Amino acid sequence: MKVRAAVLRSPGTPPVVEEVELAEPRVGEILVRIEAAGVCHSDYHYMTGDLTAPLPLVLGHEGAGVVEAVGPQASGRISVGDRVALLWRPRCGSCEACLSGNPVLCELGKVQAATGGLPDGTSRLSLPDGGALHHLMGVSCFADHVVVNENAAVVVPDGVPAEIAAISACAVITGVGAVWNVVSHAAGRPLLVIGAGGVGLSAIMGAALTGAHPIIAIDIDDHKLELARDFGATVTVNSRQTDATAAVLAATDGRGVPWAIEAIGRPATLRQALDCTAAGGTVVAVGLGAVDTEFAVPLNQLVQRQKRVVGSLYGSSNPFIDLPRIFALYLAGRLPLGRLLGDRMPLTSVAEAYDRLVGGAVGRGILTP
Ligand code: APR
Ligand code: ZN
Ligand code: ZN
Repeated sequence: MKVRAAVLRSPGTPPVVEEVELAEPRVGEILVRIEAAGVCHSDYHYMTGDLTAPLPLVLGHEGAGVVEAVGPQASGRISVGDRVALLWRPRCGSCEACLSGNPVLCELGKVQAATGGLPDGTSRLSLPDGGALHHLMGVSCFADHVVVNENAAVVVPDGVPAEIAAISACAVITGVGAVWNVVSHAAGRPLLVIGAGGVGLSAIMGAALTGAHPIIAIDIDDHKLELARDFGATVTVNSRQTDATAAVLAATDGRGVPWAIEAIGRPATLRQALDCTAAGGTVVAVGLGAVDTEFAVPLNQLVQRQKRVVGSLYGSSNPFIDLPRIFALYLAGRLPLGRLLGDRMPLTSVAEAYDRLVGGAVGRGILTP
């Protein structure tokens, strides 16, 4: 079928919405009509070339929609008419990572990344002239329709709007999941989040749910810090105006925080997180950096102060467990995800949506086909 999709041909050029070909779902795959897609910073990394993937590709990895067709030999878990949120990490269910409860590291992730295909390594997308066109992270939801593996879809309960489902399956699960699955014993103890974008604000919401206190947020934009307070941050620091490390130490009786979540992906803010961490504390690196980015760790902060630095991808989650919990908490009024949302724009405004993200737009932008 013909679909309209935002195609990225080379880094540094804006994405262009054009008509492309989408093949039918194969065994274990589904066709989904996209209702909403989130404007996530990760796509921007591919637009600039900070992260690389086989090109040309269709952008978008934070999406939700309605199942319109199911491929042959379906498992029955997903049916036509189901509302689904899309996952950008597949899970085969049988590799060591999947079996040991760490599906974010499923072997199929490597296949998907290396081939620019679906988990079987092939693409359902092609250019109108028959030329190759790749998926991004097995999703490519800046389009009116997608074909994805059925293991890349979680059913969304009634009452959860598509735009909430979309952001839940990337920004929210990444931030909330980092707190649920990596941080432990947070209640009544300080927690720092650096970067109050979609991911960082979600980490703040997760921290508020666990009872961490004080919750300290650092950003360079006062509007983001206002939102951070809405979501439960009790101390906010604009690091353009204030010595952030000194402010964090002052808010923690000079000790620093046992948990610091970095949700930007920059060496300077990772170092800031480490400097703000108490002896025995842990930095959780959540933000993706440009390929080959390094950050320097003073050896004796690790050894003499027994600090740890750990990475967390996709909230270190099992989305089939964590996403239904996120939806249930949203429906119960315990996760105010609606307040994360910002501008709604048509898919044709994709380039402008990213200009706004980089320009400091407040709240998660949503594209609708
Ligand atoms: N110090 C403090 N805050 C900063 C700094 C800095 N030096 N630079 C940027 N920020 C803030 C921005 O003001 C913004 O609020 O970091 C936030 C980043 O938010 P978004 O651009 O909305 O990014 P988001 O989608 O939340 O993703 C964050 O996680 O998954 C990854 O690829 C993603 O690396 C990205 C990160
Ligand atoms: Zn994302
Ligand atoms: Zn697996």
